[in-house]
Amino acid sequence: MDKIIVANWKANPNTTKQAVALAKALDKRGVVVAPPYPFLEQVGRVLKKATLGAQDVFWADSGPYTGEVSLKQLKSLKVKYVILGHSERRKYLGETDELINKKVKAALKMGFKVILCVGEWKRKSLSSAKSFVKNQLRRDLRGTNKLGSYPANKLIIAYEPVWAISTGRAGADKPEDAVEMAKFIKQLLVVSHKLSVKVLYGGSVNAKNAYSFLKHKEIEGALVGGASLKPKEFRKVIK
Ligand code: PGA
Repeated sequence: MDKIIVANWKANPNTTKQAVALAKALDKRGVVVAPPYPFLEQVGRVLKKATLGAQDVFWADSGPYTGEVSLKQLKSLKVKYVILGHSERRKYLGETDELINKKVKAALKMGFKVILCVGEWKRKSLSSAKSFVKNQLRRDLRGTNKLGSYPANKLIIAYEPVWAISTGRAGADKPEDAVEMAKFIKQLLVVSHKLSVKVLYGGSVNAKNAYSFLKHKEIEGALVGGASLKPKEFRKVIK
C-alpha cells in the first residue's frame, strides 16, 4: 500500500529561492509538499514526482474577503490537496469547527483532497482523547455525507495529538496509541459516512520514529512539520 508523506512547511522558509531548493530536495513519489501560499506557484513548477498541497483555503469562491485565498485560485495553481483544521490555525487564528466545516465542504465539492486535522490538546487518557476526536469529526464533517458521492479517497484524516506536535522529541506519542486512534477514526467514518478513509499520523514525526508509526497498516502516512524542512531527515522518513 502506498503511504502518503505530507511536508507541512508552515511559515517557512523565507524566500522563493529557498522554497524552490527545498521542494527539489523533497520531490519524491508519494510526497505532498504544502508550502506557504507565496511559494505555491514556483514550487508547483519544480515538482515532478511529488504533489502540490496548500496549508489552508477559504470557503467562498471569490469576493470581498480581505486576506483570503480561494479554492479556484488554488485550482489554477494545480494544487491537489488542502490541509484543513490544523491545530495551529485553531489556536492562533481562532478557527472554529463551524468554519472548518465550511472549508471542508467547499473543498470536497471542488474536488480537492482534504487532509482534515484532528487531535486532542492534552492526553488525559486514550478514551477521553477518542471522545474529543469523535466530537471534532462530527462537527468538522457535518453535512459532508450529503454532498453526493465524492470518492472515498478525497477525504483523509490526520490524527495529530496537539501535545505531540513540534516537540522535536522522537516518539512523543506511543505508536500503539496512534494505531488504536486510527482504527477508531476509520470505524467511526465507516458508520457515519460509509467511507473507508486513510488516516495519517502527525506530531513530531522524524527520521528516528517514523518507522515505528508507519510500519502499521492502520497508519497510511504522516504529516510532517519540522522534519520536512531538513531534506536529509525527510528522505529518511520516506525511506
Ligand atoms: P511537527 O508538525 O512534525 O513539527 O510536529 C506536525 C504538524 O503540525 O503538522
